[in-house]
Amino acid sequence: HKRIGILTSGGDCAGLNAVIRAVTRCAINVYDWEVFGICKATLGLMSRPPQVMQLTVNQVDSILTMGGTILGTTNKGNPFAYPMANGEIIDRSEEIIEGYHLLGLDALIGVGGDGSLAILRKLAQQGGMNFVGIPKTIDNDVDLTERSIGFDTAVNIATEAIDRLQFTAASHSRVMIVEVMGRDAGHIALNAGIAGGAHIIMIPEIPYRLENICNYIKKRQEQGQDYSIVVVSEAVCTEAGETIARMQQFGQCLLGGIGQYIADRISKESGAETRVTVLGHTQRGGISSPLDRILASAFGVAAVDLIAHEKYDYMVTWQNRQVISVPILDAIARYRAVDPQDTLVKTARGLGICLGD
Ligand code: F6P
Repeated sequence: HKRIGILTSGGDCAGLNAVIRAVTRCAINVYDWEVFGICKATLGLMSRPPQVMQLTVNQVDSILTMGGTILGTTNKGNPFAYPMANGEIIDRSEEIIEGYHLLGLDALIGVGGDGSLAILRKLAQQGGMNFVGIPKTIDNDVDLTERSIGFDTAVNIATEAIDRLQFTAASHSRVMIVEVMGRDAGHIALNAGIAGGAHIIMIPEIPYRLENICNYIKKRQEQGQDYSIVVVSEAVCTEAGETIARMQQFGQCLLGGIGQYIADRISKESGAETRVTVLGHTQRGGISSPLDRILASAFGVAAVDLIAHEKYDYMVTWQNRQVISVPILDAIARYRAVDPQDTLVKTARGLGICLGD
């Protein structure tokens, strides 16, 4: 008999509840264990008494499709450098470790992106916690897994937005700029851009020249296509190679993000009428896609099986249509950007999509 905990950490995404459901069902139905859901990531273990909810099969019965996470989450407050209300930064890692032991947990499953997994692993190593990781992030930038929970839904949402923009762009002969999330990686932009039939896709991994983009728009106009859809990943830099975050730090370009910057530059250089849509957090919410539900279910079951085999310090991953596990240390060693030689980059080029280079 085991007593396990599960927490969701970092930014939410679609599919988190599906993974909570899968872990709960497998642990109870297959192994007859107890499952505790830890509230608000590590903050739940920091609280006294620890903030948890015991999960039952009934409780998770209807959460499969639900967006967000019933456990809550946070991406603030690294426990190793925790910002206190008085401005002091202190190490609160021992409180979290103590919380795990107070609950009498035999193992902990952490659902997070690379940042959260790195922190949770460090806590586990320091405090003798048996830890298993599950990758989730709309950015799809966790290494050694082809897919992370939440990515597929985000791509679906961005694709639907591009689909809708196609018609209004064509009706008004406009250049529509769609800014998508992805943190430092262009996976959402590349996937949704191809799926939605974007004409131009800008990702941080492929440096662009504005001239190439304007020429492409002009060429389309000459060929009778007087509108274009440009998908821009949030981490794309200005022409001078500056990130928008850095420019804002210095009080420049305060209006809008990179999408607005690109729109302004395109209209100035090409004379085209532009409009900007920033999809923002819509990409994280809503009903999860069937693929995310399947992935979350497979990952949840595999994580519980790892605990049954007492194989700790591993992360479940999706490779070649199989769930396998890899040492967490290997998965967090590197973040997974879009490889400029990636198959989908080749696909985009083959379709004649402009990547700006
Ligand atoms: O990592 C997920 C993500 O949604 C990124 O795509 C985005 O850059 C960031 O989180 C937004 O964070 P926040 O919710 O703190 O605004």
